[in-house]
Amino acid sequence: MLLCRAWGFRRSVLKVLGIETSCDETGVAVYDTDRGLLAEALYSQVAVHAEYGGVVPELASRDHIRKTLPLVNEVLQRAELEKHELEGIAYTAGPGLMGALMVGATLGRSMARGLGIPCLGVHHMEGHLLAPMLGENPPQYPFVALLVSGGHSQLVRVDGLGRYTLLGESVDDAAGEAFDKTAKLLDLPYPGGPQVAKLAENGDPGRFDFPRPMVRQPGLDMSFSGLKTHTLTTVRACREATGLTDQDRADIACAFEIAVVDTLAIKCRRALEQESLNTLVMAGGVSANRRLRRVLAEKLGPKGVAVHYPPLALCTDNGAMIAYAGALRLAAGQRDPDEAEVRPRWPMTLLHPPEVA
Ligand code: KG4
Ligand code: ZN
Repeated sequence: MLLCRAWGFRRSVLKVLGIETSCDETGVAVYDTDRGLLAEALYSQVAVHAEYGGVVPELASRDHIRKTLPLVNEVLQRAELEKHELEGIAYTAGPGLMGALMVGATLGRSMARGLGIPCLGVHHMEGHLLAPMLGENPPQYPFVALLVSGGHSQLVRVDGLGRYTLLGESVDDAAGEAFDKTAKLLDLPYPGGPQVAKLAENGDPGRFDFPRPMVRQPGLDMSFSGLKTHTLTTVRACREATGLTDQDRADIACAFEIAVVDTLAIKCRRALEQESLNTLVMAGGVSANRRLRRVLAEKLGPKGVAVHYPPLALCTDNGAMIAYAGALRLAAGQRDPDEAEVRPRWPMTLLHPPEVA
């Protein structure tokens, strides 16, 4: 047993294998509750799905089947561990694509059964939420978390592991989904978020002024589908005027990105004020967005708010966040029930702290 600094009470030391297969990345890692992250590996299916312009669930499952076990072996080798030295296995149990989740769950659970070690299905968004803890400057509870990924845009009050209160969420498209759809309208390849961000760098921020949805209404819910429609209307207007030039595309990408970032910044500030907190944690794929990071630091920093992010490589899907979240819960004694199943839909507010889960 050792005293775990980040959590402040006694836990057993564990070496945990984490497996992430919820969507289009196969991520595997080993986290040691004493020594930290020992090794990780990531395989992206981008090339598999690119020609279809988005994730094809059946292809995703098949590719996870091909890649997960080789990645497990690679990670164990890099961590200089034998399989029998593992003390727990965590896999993403949801939310995500049913078939893709089942690949990681089946491998994780059968390995754990064969090795006689505990196993636990982890919530993908809890993994994202805890990823900043793997950075150099981990946040202290309580804090407000902005979770922005391809499937979720949520503001959550976090009082501890498994102690989550949903403050607001998108009533339609997630922020990442809006980036991906806007990318398609601008003829950019999948996955769209990083492509829109790159194109926006050459845009003129003063040319178009896109709306900031739902900022005048009270509350912390968000909406991003109207912005996508605004993009479509602007693209059409440019096409009819002069044909859509590269500069038009960059200016539209820039206006879209500024509108999303401004909206998120307004909602974050409101959430922090409402909860009387001064720590903001941002996680999920969109937290890799440089403008979002810069604007949040500029707007919230002078108000005394500390903004925390995961290391850049851990913003998007990865095995490290699942190994870490799983290690915390396994170390506190939580285990999969015998009848555990994957959960393609799984609200994070149904989670509990490990001692009552
Ligand atoms: O968390 P994630 O890897 O997967 C999900 O759990 O959904 O997030 C993926 C999302 C995609 O929508 C992608 O376009 C977006 O994150 N994304 C970005 C950036 N990098 C990834 N959006 C804006 N700017 C980025 N730099
Ligand atoms: Zn994710």
